[in-house]
Amino acid sequence: MLPWFQDGKFPIYLAPMAGVTDIVFRTICKELGADVMVTEFVSAEGIIRRDDRTRKYTEFTDEQRPCGVQLFGADGLRMGEAAKKIIDWKQPDFIDINFGCPVNKVVSKNGGSSLLKDCPLLASVASEIHKAVGDQVPVTAKIRIGWDDQTINAPKVCKALEESGMQVIAVHGRTRSQRYTGEANWDVIDECARTVAIPVVGNGDITCGEDVERRKQQTAVSGVMIGRAAMQNPWVFREAKHYLTTGEHLDPVPMTERWQLIRRHCALAIESGRYGEEQYTMMAMRSRLIAYCKGFPGAKMLRKTLCACTSIAQLEDIAAEYTNHHDRGVFDINL
Ligand SMILES: Cc1cc2nc3c(=O)[nH]c(=O)nc-3n(C[C@H](O)[C@H](O)[C@H](O)COP(=O)(O)O)c2cc1C
Repeated sequence: MLPWFQDGKFPIYLAPMAGVTDIVFRTICKELGADVMVTEFVSAEGIIRRDDRTRKYTEFTDEQRPCGVQLFGADGLRMGEAAKKIIDWKQPDFIDINFGCPVNKVVSKNGGSSLLKDCPLLASVASEIHKAVGDQVPVTAKIRIGWDDQTINAPKVCKALEESGMQVIAVHGRTRSQRYTGEANWDVIDECARTVAIPVVGNGDITCGEDVERRKQQTAVSGVMIGRAAMQNPWVFREAKHYLTTGEHLDPVPMTERWQLIRRHCALAIESGRYGEEQYTMMAMRSRLIAYCKGFPGAKMLRKTLCACTSIAQLEDIAAEYTNHHDRGVFDINL
């Protein structure tokens, strides 16, 4: 069993999210208590072509370990080849295979969740990758519960993946047709965890420590994975761990600490150079800033202001003015 599940550990993963869980955001989530992380998905073909941009997505720091690199593709042999290249460059703690992506561009080429429709093909892709990698690093997989409501087959898929040598399976409790709508089905996730002997990590709609505790108590999962809630509130990992050990919630994160983190995230993103110069990085950060400010008093106006922000200096002014208004209890600000 992988070390992060041993001795009764119940790891909390940061979910892979393309365009979100880059090296900078992973640093932040690790500091705030995420146990295991997976890179954004990367194309096996991009890796084989030695495409620089694809290669960048696979980067992680040693502090982020255990960290896996997630691959998507349709051909097991090519994906195995890509996995070996990644291992040569980076020696990740595991290779993760994406069998859950619902995006048309990926599905139309038989990648991501499309393989859920063909269990023998999915198993052969997983086996080929496992064979190529050998015992260099463990191979894990991430799936959805099925293609649509009529074809929920995750327990069967999990069995096939276990027989193909996968060492962990993360199950997102939605079908491909649902994409991100409706509620995650934790009954099916539970059934998956009871069907296989390897650890199953449950994923879908976890937003706080109480959710983690409930899933731990009420299902057979060996860990959980948090995605969208971390975009809004990366402190969720710290909160969840505190709740698991004490049964109590932490105090809400003060506004000043929130703004400090928002500022730091932007500064690190600029420093990383991934999105280009400051102005372009701040533009790329807009959706992230909006996520951080969801639920803030006066969020509607704040959103507009942040969307026009093109520098760290401007962000600092916005934060100062917002905090000033907030402290005086004036929420509907027009900055
Ligand atoms: C913006 C975004 C990007 C995502 N990218 C990936 C990805 O690259 N690989 C993957 O396996 N899942 C990806 N997902 C799915 C998440 O990993 C996760 O399964 C899903 O968001 C459900 O968990 P949550 O309810 O905690 O958000 C993505 C989700 C979002 C919202």
